[in-house]
Amino acid sequence: MLRDSVRVYAPATVANVACGFDVLGFALYEPGDEIVMRKTNSDKTEIVLITGDGGKLSRDASKNTAGVVVDAFLQHIGQKTGIAIELHKKMPLGSGLGSSAASAVAALFAINELMGQPLTRLEMLPFAMEAERLACGAAHADNVAPSLLGGFTLVRSYEPLDVIKLNTPPDLVATVVHPHIEIRTEDARSILRKSVTLKDAIIQWGNVGGLVAGLLMSDYALIGRSLHDQIVEPLRALLIPNFAQVKKAAMQAGALGCSISGSGPSIFALSTSHETGQRIADAITAAFAEVNIATDCYVSPINAEGPRLLD
Ligand code: HSE
Repeated sequence: MLRDSVRVYAPATVANVACGFDVLGFALYEPGDEIVMRKTNSDKTEIVLITGDGGKLSRDASKNTAGVVVDAFLQHIGQKTGIAIELHKKMPLGSGLGSSAASAVAALFAINELMGQPLTRLEMLPFAMEAERLACGAAHADNVAPSLLGGFTLVRSYEPLDVIKLNTPPDLVATVVHPHIEIRTEDARSILRKSVTLKDAIIQWGNVGGLVAGLLMSDYALIGRSLHDQIVEPLRALLIPNFAQVKKAAMQAGALGCSISGSGPSIFALSTSHETGQRIADAITAAFAEVNIATDCYVSPINAEGPRLLD
């Protein structure tokens, strides 16, 4: 059925998943972004309303990720139509939860529905990656891939693009805590070293392999052993007040593992029950309170579905 208007939800994501910098990610149930999109009689894409961004995002469709992906999509399929976009940000910006990715994915999913689903989700992925380049200067896919495909995803290769959707172990619960400080992805990337030692690389790829195997076998102990980042976390931890105590508190509360979500400042931990997940959220919140930082917490299973139509 061809529609003139759609309402779509796309989820926030945890990129990197400790050891998989720029290659691993998973989708959450909440938070996320909502987009209402409709066809119009004009010949252009317009952002008619944005809520929840505190006025920070551009209302100019050519500078907003949602508008940019819609124009790129229409150009790709060789069709012209006017489009009006309402973007409802239901998640914090600059939090390390893939805010720009969720907006781009919601917009892509919506325009694909409006145009009669000409593209598969995998075919839409490069458009979402270009939106990431606009938002933070790098066309990484570890937020857009899980937001678009759902579950855990692995970017096996960027050139050529080869993205694999992994298994979602059924008992896995994600705790995400967003401390009220802002870290720009560009800044969190600029502090990283450009080369790694062979010794660190061996530790890192052992853990990436271990995590992927743990996910495929639903082996929670192996997942826990593999949630270790030898390369990026030690540097980015310096940007997050009380990080060592935050991580220790999460582990003591029963986390399988705990690290920085994407480029931070949000923290994620994995566990195997909602009860433990909530206990971890409380422990992390208490550790941030020690340094007078307030938080928002989300505890949910892994979202294996990705974006969805709301009506
Ligand atoms: N992989 C990216 C990074 C994700 O860590 O910089 C950005 O959210």
